[in-house]
Amino acid sequence: MSSLVYHRSLLGHVRRPNVSKVDVMWDLLLSVIGYLFCLYHLRNLLDFIWFYFLRPTDTYKKYLSGPRPYALITGATDGIGKALAKELYDKGFNLIIHGRNEEKILSVVNEFENSSSSGGDVKYFVADADRPDVDFEGIAKRFEGLNVTLVVNNVGGIRIRLERFDEWTEEEHLIQVRSNAIFPTLVTRAFLSSLRDTARKRPVLVAFMGSTSDEMAMPRIPLYIASKAYIRKLAPSLHADERFDIPDGRVDGAIDFMHVHLGTVRSGLIVAPVNFWRPSSDVFAKKLIGTFGCGRQYVIPYVGHAVMLKMHRTWPKWYVDRGIQKSVRAHLEREGLSLSGLKKP
Ligand SMILES: NC(=O)c1ccc[n+]([C@@H]2O[C@H](COP(=O)([O-])OP(=O)(O)OC[C@H]3O[C@@H](n4cnc5c(N)ncnc54)[C@H](OP(=O)(O)O)[C@@H]3O)[C@@H](O)[C@H]2O)c1
Repeated sequence: MSSLVYHRSLLGHVRRPNVSKVDVMWDLLLSVIGYLFCLYHLRNLLDFIWFYFLRPTDTYKKYLSGPRPYALITGATDGIGKALAKELYDKGFNLIIHGRNEEKILSVVNEFENSSSSGGDVKYFVADADRPDVDFEGIAKRFEGLNVTLVVNNVGGIRIRLERFDEWTEEEHLIQVRSNAIFPTLVTRAFLSSLRDTARKRPVLVAFMGSTSDEMAMPRIPLYIASKAYIRKLAPSLHADERFDIPDGRVDGAIDFMHVHLGTVRSGLIVAPVNFWRPSSDVFAKKLIGTFGCGRQYVIPYVGHAVMLKMHRTWPKWYVDRGIQKSVRAHLEREGLSLSGLKKP
């Protein structure tokens, strides 16, 4: 009301001697804040609608250039990685897939080659991401000269245990960090120089699979959460790093890095029913591919995860924390670990 009075008084229609200058200034300030607040939320809403419902989803095709390109996917023998590899193979990529069990990898290679008419090449490498002695340089050397345009650092794992932090051995902690943080970092480092050569000729993307749990405080898996938080910062930092030596304003020819933020997906890791909040690995893989080449360094490919994350950020922290405590306890029970064994804090 006083805002109206102010605007009308500005136009000279109304004179209100009882409205002080301070009132008018307050009025103006609050109006501006209100407009900015509305603009901010309107912009976010429009961006949400654009990203999940209107945006072209064939931008991945820019990585399908040059001699039939390879997509390298770590942890591709199960869950999201396997679904992603299959989908990319069907879309015309050759593959380099990774796993820790050669027999399982070979059966996946066979499955892909027999179930698709794409006729592409499928190569693989075996490496246990839990171990400290992986020969990253040797692995990268084996694939030198191939036209690799897409790398998805998907490998990762979670081990929820009954014991408290200091009751795990040092090695058990290190395994969590190795598979979720160190392995993706060092695979990327080993392939970087040849990816850089390719990027001078055609677009190259390196994606890292994170987790929305990195925004939460989860009991019994602090190093999984911490490793995923590390991964979230790695992608944009590498993106900036690769552009540091490029002359001002020219970004063509540099590798793109992308962080993938995801909530729960039914996979080898999470065996729970599919619903709106928890898509299957196949559905998630399709959504993920639709974000490749979208130009963003941080994506939440699946709309249900984006909504869930928004709700988590809005709800009171104590409420979210209580829900998480409950679901971890339920998980431990499902795993057959007696809750009576849980020590009270
Ligand atoms: N599913 C979810 O709800 C969810 C949520 C947030 C984030 N994520 C992230 O998404 C990624 C994929 O998860 P997912 O659910 O698809 O997992 P998954 O079904 O368990 O598949 C993981 C893949 O990685 C491989 N792998 C696991 N540990 C390994 C190791 N130490 N060395 C070598 N290979 C290893 C597995 O090989 P084997 O076949 O031999 O086991 C499998 O191929 C992970 O980074 C995970 O943290 C998943």
